[in-house]
Amino acid sequence: MDLLARARKLEAEGQSIVHLEVGEPDFATARPIVDAGIQALRQLKTNYTAATGLPELRQAIADHYRHKYNLEINPRRVVVTPGASGALQLALSVLTDAGDSILLTDPSYPCNRNIAQVLGVNSIHVPVGAETQYQFVASLIGEHWQDNTRAAMVASPSNPTGTLIERGVMQGVFEAVKKKHGHLIVDEIYQGLVYDAEEYTALALSEEMFVINSFSKYFGMTGWRIGWMVVPEQFVDVVDRVAQNIFLAPPTISQYAALVAFEPDTDEILQRRVAMFRERRDYLLPLLEEAGFKIPVQPQGAFYIYADCSAITDDSFQWTKDLLEKEGVAVTPGIDFGEFEANTHVRFSYTRSVDELKRAMCRITRFIK
Ligand SMILES: Cc1ncc(COP(=O)(O)O)c(C=O)c1O
Repeated sequence: MDLLARARKLEAEGQSIVHLEVGEPDFATARPIVDAGIQALRQLKTNYTAATGLPELRQAIADHYRHKYNLEINPRRVVVTPGASGALQLALSVLTDAGDSILLTDPSYPCNRNIAQVLGVNSIHVPVGAETQYQFVASLIGEHWQDNTRAAMVASPSNPTGTLIERGVMQGVFEAVKKKHGHLIVDEIYQGLVYDAEEYTALALSEEMFVINSFSKYFGMTGWRIGWMVVPEQFVDVVDRVAQNIFLAPPTISQYAALVAFEPDTDEILQRRVAMFRERRDYLLPLLEEAGFKIPVQPQGAFYIYADCSAITDDSFQWTKDLLEKEGVAVTPGIDFGEFEANTHVRFSYTRSVDELKRAMCRITRFIK
């Protein structure tokens, strides 16, 4: 965030900046979704909805799982939330008490450990590397679980690494968590943004997981603040009660807009974007390797490349600052995602056009030289 602020300041002063630090697609929300939002406003749909969301949106989300994954989900288990962020807060709120702990991978999405901290929950950071695709495997759960641990959190595809958890490994992780009488929270926010791997949902493996998703990334609705979570049946009521108290309801206009997110016309637009992300990844990856970065695991999803920069620097934080000041390219240092080998990693977001990536690579290569 500091880096982003600095990048914006330099930009305001007239410098040309290439933004490879932001985790947000550069596309505006697809037109059919925007139109549905405008229509909802015109029809004055401006009141609160139920805390768990519009029944028709919960049904549309359940239908989405049937169409895409051939999976029957009771819409009662679907809770609409203010982004995946709202879902993460709800999940941790209902599963933990102050003094408990949760297991996270290091590196992982930084807000999770901060949400835990706000709740007085200790996060145990488990170092993961290329050998496990930067993800949990069952044995790591057994090794790091403590008496006060209540849940483990995973994201597939992951931020910052773009790696997936293969179906069998997810099943193993789930079993290991279950053996400890804990809960598995699976963040599928980058679902749909998967390039050359089989897509599945963890919901197909068990009804006992908390599975989080969002309209932010694949559906390109970051600023609308809307997502969802599918919870085990016995948690529906408690999640409802906590949602009533923390959020009252997810944003109404966004919910009406999201209703058309699953329509075939919208999906056609979104699928074209997926193809563009894949093209960007395929463009950037070999150029980064040529420039001296090591990328031991091919990122198969999201829009991130987590690169080992040990051949270039052992202080990635300072390096990203210098790169921004000297060449006007903003990338995220590893320290944002944890501590494990953070000084020798950086994250590149390919949320910019191939032309911009080209400009960034010229500057990065010159900077390294
Ligand atoms: C892994 C992961 N989870 C959750 C979020 C939160 O997303 P939102 O609240 O916009 O749905 C992000 C945002 O970047 C993310 O990368």
